[in-house]
Formats: sequence, C-alpha cells, structure tokens
Amino acid sequence: MHLTPEEEKIFNGERGATYQKAMEILTALGDIYGADRLVPIRSAQIAGVSYKTIGDAGLEWISGLEGKVVVPSILNPAGMDRECWQEMGIDRDFADKQEEIIRAYESLGVRTECTCTPYHIFDTLAGIGDHLAWSESSAVSYANSVIGARTNREGGPSAISAALLGKTANFGFHLDENRVPTVLTRVKGKLRDSDYGALGYIAGEMVGDRVPYFRLDSIPSKDELKYLGAAMAASGAVALYHVEDVTPEAGKYSDFVPDEIITIGEKEVKDVYSSGEPDLIAFGCPHSSVPELERLALLLDGKSVKRETWICTSRAVKENNPGLVRRIEKSGAKVFCDTCMVVSPASERFSCMMVNSGKAHKYVPNLCGVRSIMAKTEECVEAAVRE
Ligand code: F3S
Repeated sequence: MHLTPEEEKIFNGERGATYQKAMEILTALGDIYGADRLVPIRSAQIAGVSYKTIGDAGLEWISGLEGKVVVPSILNPAGMDRECWQEMGIDRDFADKQEEIIRAYESLGVRTECTCTPYHIFDTLAGIGDHLAWSESSAVSYANSVIGARTNREGGPSAISAALLGKTANFGFHLDENRVPTVLTRVKGKLRDSDYGALGYIAGEMVGDRVPYFRLDSIPSKDELKYLGAAMAASGAVALYHVEDVTPEAGKYSDFVPDEIITIGEKEVKDVYSSGEPDLIAFGCPHSSVPELERLALLLDGKSVKRETWICTSRAVKENNPGLVRRIEKSGAKVFCDTCMVVSPASERFSCMMVNSGKAHKYVPNLCGVRSIMAKTEECVEAAVRE
C-alpha cells in the first residue's frame, strides 16, 4: 500500500508509539485486503466499549493509548445506562470499570455518546459518498445503505486507529466495484414496522455477506430500513443493501444482472414471529428514534406494565424528549440509554425476552443466554401490560 511521506513518518514512529501502532493496524489491514492507499474519513464510530465485551484486557489496551482523534468520533453502546445503572441491576465493580473505559476514550477526544444510531443525533457525521470508519454492524449497514456513505465494518482497534489518523484503508465498501448488488431479493406482500426486522432475519441467512438488491411491494421508512439492515447484519454479514426506488444508490443498479434471485413471501416473514410469556420486553435495537418513542408513548398511554419493560435509546434522544419519556415511564416502562438489551449484562438475569427486532432476536440467545421471542411492536406492548 502506498504511504505518503507524512504517513511514512508516522509509520516509523516519529509521532510516538500510539500513532505508530494506529498506522501499523491500518496498513496491515490495507495490505491484507489489497488497499492502494489511505483515504480521509469524515467520522468514526468506535465499538469495543461495553466492559461485558472487552473486559480488563480491552480496558488496559485503551488506557495505554495517547493522543487525540482528528475527526468527530462517537462510541458504541456501553454495558449500562451511565446514570440509571443501579436501576438496571448492574453492580458497582462493573459500573466502575465501565466508566474507566469511557473516560479512557474521552481522554483521546472521543465523544461519550454511546449509541448505535449516531445518525439520529448528528447529521454532520456522514453524507452521501463520505468515507467513514464505523464499527457497529447496524450503523455500518445504515451508513452504507440508507445514507450512501462508505464504510467497512471496523473492529474497535481499527476504528480508534482511523479516528486518531483521520484516515482508513481504501478497500471493501470504499470502492465502487464492491457496492454493486449481486442478489435480487423479491419480497411479496405489504410489510410494516417489525416485519422489516423479520425480513432481515430471514434474508441475512440467505444472502450471507453479499450485497442484496430488494424489490419490495411496500415503501419502508427510515426506521424500517434500520431494522432490516440491523437484522441482516446479525443473521448474515450484510453491510450494504439497496432497495429499489428507496435507497440513494439503488438507481445506479436498476438493470444489474443478479447471480441469484431469491423470493421471500409474507408467510416466511410471519413465521419468524411467535408468542409466549416473557419476563422482559425490550424495545430499541437499534436504539429508538423519536418517532418510535412517540409510537410507544401512544401505545402505553393510560396503561401500566406488569412485566419489566425496557426501551433503549441514545442519551440525546432521551434528554431532548422529556415529555415523551415521562409519558412512557408513567406506564412503569423504563427508558435506558447508553446501552442495550444485548451488550448489557443486566438482561442476563431474565429467562425469556420479547423483542420487536430481528437483530436482537438473533443475538439474545447466544450473547445473553436468554430465550427470545420476536413479536410485532403492538404485541410486545400487549405482552408488557398483560396480567
Ligand atoms: Fe444497537 Fe445493541 Fe441492537 S448496539 S443494534 S441496540 S444489539
């Protein structure tokens, strides 16, 4: 991979050990994946935040870094709500370690919003055609597919390296040729709301790591695209998809020649759903938007929940919408931020979780050891308020 004279100096350690390590990480990835050079990035979103995931070894690594990020950089969800961790049932040892991790990132100049939906908070982090270094799989999918920006799925170390250097290696989804769809996915029937998460759950398994082009009978909203992409990234490894007449790059590929045509019907989507008696109902995977909070507030108005009910969102969305949060919390449901039902150990004390998200449905059994039921948003609310 070609390095500029300035990049060579960093590689040779002239700006210190942290920048040298960052350059080594990016060039190693670039060499493995055949990048020709580094490209400037507009922003970074850094995974490797939850103490549940990275443990003491991760904390030690981050604490050893020195320097400052040079592009706007934001964190992935942590293992707890930074204010309401006791209410979540998190113990003090975990909370102290979690805060240490976040402070270590903060000392590098990283913003301490911990969310997988940075695009709900800042519209300056990513635009069409921008190169990014984002980590969390649903955020990567949203950035590539819905925003039309360009990012690979960075690991925690490569994302912080990119943030420190303001660059990433030019391979994968940064290149036009890897953004071309190869699978045509026809979906029959009208879908809405969590149906898109259920569709993503099925489609991800079929598509794997290829780039699907969807032909749908209904027009999804941005939140519905968020659910679709999140689930496909979890059940498969889809980091970019196109939806005919909807996503920004789809028009370029309207006459592409697919290697495979997949057809998915309403019945297959419905088959993802089931029912049961959960002891935790959790919304907000990916983190809830304002319209989603509005809908939940409406569904919960005048009711009281009979089972533990969580709604996960970003701190900015929670703090900017106190009236909505009050309405939701009047029902007894809890609005948590900075974390989620998957990356927090707090959900592990439950035995069965009901979710309206295909991604959570995929991850909860393996990562939390909890049985999962996927249901539509209204059915999740009904289960929450049922005696
Ligand atoms: Fe976000 Fe957690 Fe789901 S990080 S996408 S809410 S698993």
